Amino acid sequence: MKIVIAPIFRTCLKLSDASTIKSLVKATGFFRDCEIDIAEELIVTQLANSNAGYRFVFTEVDNLVIGYACWGKTPCTESTWDLYWVAVHPNYSNKGLGKVILNFVENDIRLSGGKSLIAETSSLNKYSSTRIFYERCNYRIASVVSDFYDNGDDKIIFRKFLD
Ligand SMILES: CC(C)(COP(=O)(O)OP(=O)(O)OC[C@H]1O[C@@H](n2cnc3c(N)ncnc32)[C@H](O)[C@@H]1OP(=O)(O)O)[C@@H](O)C(=O)NCCC(=O)NCCS
Repeated sequence: MKIVIAPIFRTCLKLSDASTIKSLVKATGFFRDCEIDIAEELIVTQLANSNAGYRFVFTEVDNLVIGYACWGKTPCTESTWDLYWVAVHPNYSNKGLGKVILNFVENDIRLSGGKSLIAETSSLNKYSSTRIFYERCNYRIASVVSDFYDNGDDKIIFRKFLD
């Protein structure tokens, strides 16, 4: 356990989260504009309709959001869940926070009767740290969809079975 910060975990949404998260995912430098818009849109959707099915956790230090995750049950499945987002501000990365956030998500899913969690990412070199992160969190590659995002840019589907 590398974590030396003691963030507060918050699961209820605030109006300001949409713009806060837009800034946070932008700051990672990992995402395209259309992806950043989706991160914001999921929060706006859940704020407008509490039954939309998206769950969130925000980690805060001194009232600043330094990491978050968004997940939800995969429609039309018995017990499969999707991880839509996990991101940690670069100032706080590689300190164990991403793993702690993912543990929080997994426990929430277990408590809801979920049996597995799916996380997707790209095969590009740029995302090698993301793939290592999932592997270190005991996710395994379940499938690869070649040329999904673009020619030579595959979709890597990771899965973890939740005991
Ligand atoms: C991926 C991300 C959430 C990881 O968060 P983090 O707080 O930096 O990760 P942690 O410190 O908890 O690391 C967990 C494990 O992954 C490994 N890891 C994390 N980043 C790594 C990197 N850049 N290179 C090598 N290993 C890395 C750590 O060494 C650690 O391994 P260990 O538990 O065996 O020691 C964060 O880097 C991030 O926001 N990246 C950009 C957004 C992204 O790719 N999100 C996922 C797709 S939505």
